[in-house]
Amino acid sequence: MSNPSQAKSSQGKSSKTKTSKAKTSKAKSIQANSGKLNLPRIARQRLARLEARTARIGVIGLGYVGLPLSLLLAEAGFKVTGFDIDAKKVDDLEAGRSYIFRIEAKEIKAARAKGFTATTEFARLSDQDAIILCVPTPLTAHHEPDLSFVENTAKAVAPWIREGQLVVLESTTYPGTTEELLIPVLEAGNTQGLKAQAKGAAAEHGVFYVAFSPEREDPGNVTVARRDIPKVVGGHEAIATELAATLYEGIFTRAVRVSSTRVAEMTKLLENIYRCVNIALVNELKILSLRMGVDIWEVIDAAATKPFGFQPFYPGPGLGGHCIPIDPFYLSWKAKEYDFNTRFIELAGEVNEAMPAHVAQSVAQALNTQKKAMNGARILMLGMAYKKDIDDLRESPSLTVIELLREQGAEVLYNDPYFPAVGRGRHYNLNMRSTPLENLEQYDCVLIMTDHTDYDYAAIVDLSRIVVDTRNATKGIASEKIVRC
Ligand SMILES: NC(=O)c1ccc[n+]([C@@H]2O[C@H](COP(=O)([O-])OP(=O)(O)OC[C@H]3O[C@@H](n4cnc5c(N)ncnc54)[C@H](O)[C@@H]3O)[C@@H](O)[C@H]2O)c1
Repeated sequence: MSNPSQAKSSQGKSSKTKTSKAKTSKAKSIQANSGKLNLPRIARQRLARLEARTARIGVIGLGYVGLPLSLLLAEAGFKVTGFDIDAKKVDDLEAGRSYIFRIEAKEIKAARAKGFTATTEFARLSDQDAIILCVPTPLTAHHEPDLSFVENTAKAVAPWIREGQLVVLESTTYPGTTEELLIPVLEAGNTQGLKAQAKGAAAEHGVFYVAFSPEREDPGNVTVARRDIPKVVGGHEAIATELAATLYEGIFTRAVRVSSTRVAEMTKLLENIYRCVNIALVNELKILSLRMGVDIWEVIDAAATKPFGFQPFYPGPGLGGHCIPIDPFYLSWKAKEYDFNTRFIELAGEVNEAMPAHVAQSVAQALNTQKKAMNGARILMLGMAYKKDIDDLRESPSLTVIELLREQGAEVLYNDPYFPAVGRGRHYNLNMRSTPLENLEQYDCVLIMTDHTDYDYAAIVDLSRIVVDTRNATKGIASEKIVRC
């Protein structure tokens, strides 16, 4: 991308000059790229607006991914319209309220002051330069990809697509979704007969552009700023890649261009499968270590001092969240089309899915040491969220453990500062309220499922009869009351 003569001419100047040179150089390099790409007028116009951040961006699906993305775009100066079928979310945003714990109302208000609006009216999509889809991709009851949200969104978007618009899918999915599902639905439902720009010669008219760019957010991780997480971008063809990369370079420090939507789709799955498999590995080694009387957390910390070739992963009570427990199965499902069995994914799934049962068994053993049966025991579970310091309980192992303990006759209560109440979800109907963290001696067992930072673990151990710790939250506390599992 860089032009050697420009690089040479900017040497030895002041930092201010360098910054403006850098901007000029970037603009020129895109022009150079545009030249190479032979951009038609409709794409050149969009590119210029994206580069100047004057483009109008529609974000569809204002959940954990779409809302923060909308705020980042608005902060950078883009004119952002959020779309959702959930009228309550739209009403909240229009009133300057937030419905995600870690996003404050003042951030919504600041975005609104910069022009951010939310709507349920998809007709407003036709005004947008780019449309980004951030809708859910869960599994069905039979552990198969449920692409109904992507398909329904594509059907709702199709009639409003306009020539030259860019459509980007961010939802995690198997390689091939953009080309095999999204594009055909957008083309079939498009009343103007527009087609996705095909690979090869650039059309002057009658096309829109399509790319895939996976979301890489790590909820609760405060060690890296969101804008510093590089954004992988793969277009259906080169113009879409360039448009989407330019859009994301407006809000992220770096866009990583890859050669196709399939590569971008697979990149996200590789990242999550890597986590899933490594977590399964340490979960399995944890169970062995418990039998051997070895502290697996101490082992991992010691191994992590190796400056190369080892990345620490930590055991826990089972996988949770919208990504790690789900995404790998998108690939194993797709692999069957190629007569391929993804054995690592299946094995990791088997190990990780057995962890809640291991926790329930550990609670039973801990009660046993107190001459108590599970049947009739009062258990206080600390943490409903699937990981610490977040307000997300999707696929949380706490939900499964509650079920398992109840099946054996235990009375289960919970405390979680992020969930005053837990009602009904896709896979649960609990109707429970968070119990105040007091009189801990009344419980037969306190079970730490989520290691929220706000808990005072020393006090919890001190005041409880017995504590089962699934997260090493009581690290450094010496007490016979603690059962690490
Ligand atoms: N949450 C994460 O940390 C995370 C991280 C990386 C990737 N992802 C991926 O991003 C995607 C979105 O996840 P999320 O966590 O934001 O989901 P979410 O459930 O929090 O939000 C999705 C939003 O889409 C809306 N929606 C559903 N169908 C719609 C439709 N037809 N039209 C308009 N809006 C519709 C829902 O009302 C909801 O507000 C998923 O594919 C997920 O795997 C999520």
